[in-house]
Amino acid sequence: MHELSGQRALVTGGTSGIGRATAEALAREGAHVLISGRSEARGAEVVAAIEAEGGKAEFVRADLQSPDEVRALAERAADVDILVNNAGVFPGGPTHELPEATFDETFAVNVKAPFLLTAAIAPRMVERGGGTIINVTTMVAEFGMAGLSAYGASKAAVALLTKAWAAEYGPKGVRVNAVSPGPTNTPGTEALGDGFAAIVSTIPLGRAAAPEEIAETIVFLASDKASYVNGAVIPVDGGRVAV
Ligand SMILES: NC(=O)c1ccc[n+]([C@@H]2O[C@H](COP(=O)([O-])OP(=O)(O)OC[C@H]3O[C@@H](n4cnc5c(N)ncnc54)[C@H](OP(=O)(O)O)[C@@H]3O)[C@@H](O)[C@H]2O)c1
Repeated sequence: MHELSGQRALVTGGTSGIGRATAEALAREGAHVLISGRSEARGAEVVAAIEAEGGKAEFVRADLQSPDEVRALAERAADVDILVNNAGVFPGGPTHELPEATFDETFAVNVKAPFLLTAAIAPRMVERGGGTIINVTTMVAEFGMAGLSAYGASKAAVALLTKAWAAEYGPKGVRVNAVSPGPTNTPGTEALGDGFAAIVSTIPLGRAAAPEEIAETIVFLASDKASYVNGAVIPVDGGRVAV
């Protein structure tokens, strides 16, 4: 029996990297997965890959910088049992050189969109008797890293929201948790070059993660195997925040 048969899931940023691996892993466990992103082409590719394995998936286009599009996505996904707030942007560079518009985009996509989605979808989960929400934060929300101030701050907000929502919706049957990945090989990190390699060199396990290794923990948190896990921010970072 598949762990998540009969359940519906929304994975934001399901068109790439960690989100794609998560969508594929949830579908393998029997969930019907809605995948959101901006790229129709990559969305169609992920849906085709899931269907080719016998899974169920649909692509929903939404630019999470737009609150109206976030609200429309929430309406489309109103009946999900599993919400994975994964989509994110991770601009780097010195604080004094970061354009204000980039700061605003970072907080719109990484913080405001998960906030609006959760505000719309968690009460629906409560009405239907339960559900689970998994946020994707980052190890650099746990310690200061030069060049990632706005990104780290946005994800630190997500880590706190995870705990606040666990307190708010946990008593009503909705578990809320987060995974905190270390450096992971994805299309988004491919372009980072030396900066990414420098971060990888600080990881006790001595390598970057594959997106599937992050997805495994997200699927665990979505499943009944994690039935007593609520408000946790689980590092999946090769040991980085432990040292
Ligand atoms: N990779 C790492 O090393 C790492 C480490 C720690 C945490 N994380 C976090 O893990 C998550 C996924 O990272 P990744 O490396 O897999 O990223 P990625 O390969 O760059 O993919 C990012 C995803 O987010 C979506 N997205 C970005 N901006 C969007 C917007 N304005 N509207 C809608 N969707 C948008 C993209 O979809 P479209 O392009 O189709 O719009 C894409 O599916 C992020 O939250 C990231 O901060 C990553």
